[in-house]
Amino acid sequence: MNLVFLGPPGAGKGTQAERISGIYGIAHISTGDIFRENIKKGTELGRRAKEYMDRGELVPDEVVIDIVRDALVDEKCDRGFLLDGFPRTVAQAEALEVMLREIGRPLDRVVNLSVPDEVVVERLTARRTCRNCGRNYHLVFNPPKVEGVCDVCGGELFQRDDDREETVRARLEEYRRKTEPLIEYYRERGLLVEVAGDGDMDEVTQAIQEALATAAPGG
Ligand code: AP5
Ligand code: MG
Ligand code: ZN
Repeated sequence: MNLVFLGPPGAGKGTQAERISGIYGIAHISTGDIFRENIKKGTELGRRAKEYMDRGELVPDEVVIDIVRDALVDEKCDRGFLLDGFPRTVAQAEALEVMLREIGRPLDRVVNLSVPDEVVVERLTARRTCRNCGRNYHLVFNPPKVEGVCDVCGGELFQRDDDREETVRARLEEYRRKTEPLIEYYRERGLLVEVAGDGDMDEVTQAIQEALATAAPGG
C-alpha cells in the first residue's frame, strides 16, 4: 500500500503514521524527521533546512523533492510507503506523480487528517520529542512513563524549536496558503480519504484503518 498523510501541523500525522506503517508493514517517510536528523548531524542539508524551519516556513521544493526521490527508491519501500509531511505544495505533488510513474508505484490513498486550529496549538505547545529516535509525546494526552525520558529508547525528550506558539501560528499560515490546496488536488484525482483527527489516538487509528479498508479505489 502506498499512502500520503496530509494535514496541518499537529494533526497527528507522525503519531498515526508510526502506527499505520507498523500495522501494514510499510516504510514511514517523514520529511520533517529527515531534516531534524540532518540538523542533529550538522550536515549541509540540515543547515539549509533549519533556516526555514525555525521561521515556520516551508523548505524550498527542490531540496525536499530530491530527498524524497532518494527515499522512495530504497528497498525499505518495496512493500509500500507512507509519506508523512510530503507533498506540501502543488509543485511537490506534481513532482511526486512523475517520480511514482517512473518507478511504477502509484498512490493508493491520500489520508487527510483534519483538526481545528485551537487543537493544533494545544497539541504542539505541549509536545515533547525524543532526541534520539524522534518519537512524539504530549505532556497531557500522551505523557512518557518517566518524565523527560523516551519510553522506547531511553533518549532525552526536548521541545522542538518550531513548537513555540508564534512559530506554530506561522506554520499554520504556511499550511493554509501552500498545502491546503492539495486537498482539492487529490480529491479531483479520486484519491482523497477524509478522517477527523481530533478524537483520541486509538479512535483516530481505527478511523484511518476503516477508511483505508472501505473507501473504494478512486474515491
Ligand atoms: P514536520 O515535522 O512535518 O511538521 P508538521 O507538518 O508541522 O507536523 P508536526 O510534525 O508538527 O505534526 P504531526 O501532524 O506529525 O503531529 P504529531 O503526531 O507530532 O515539518 C517541520 C518543518 O520541516 C516544516 O515546518 C518545514 O519547514 C519543513 N518541512 C517538512 N516537510 C516539508 C516539505 N514537504 N516541504 C517543505 N518543507 C518541509 O502530534 C502532535 C502532538 O499532538 C504530539 O504531542 C502528540 O503526542 C499529540 N497528539 C497526536 N494525536 C493526538 C490525539 N489524537 N489526541 C491528543 N493528542 C494527540
Ligand atoms: Mg510530524
Ligand atoms: Zn526515543
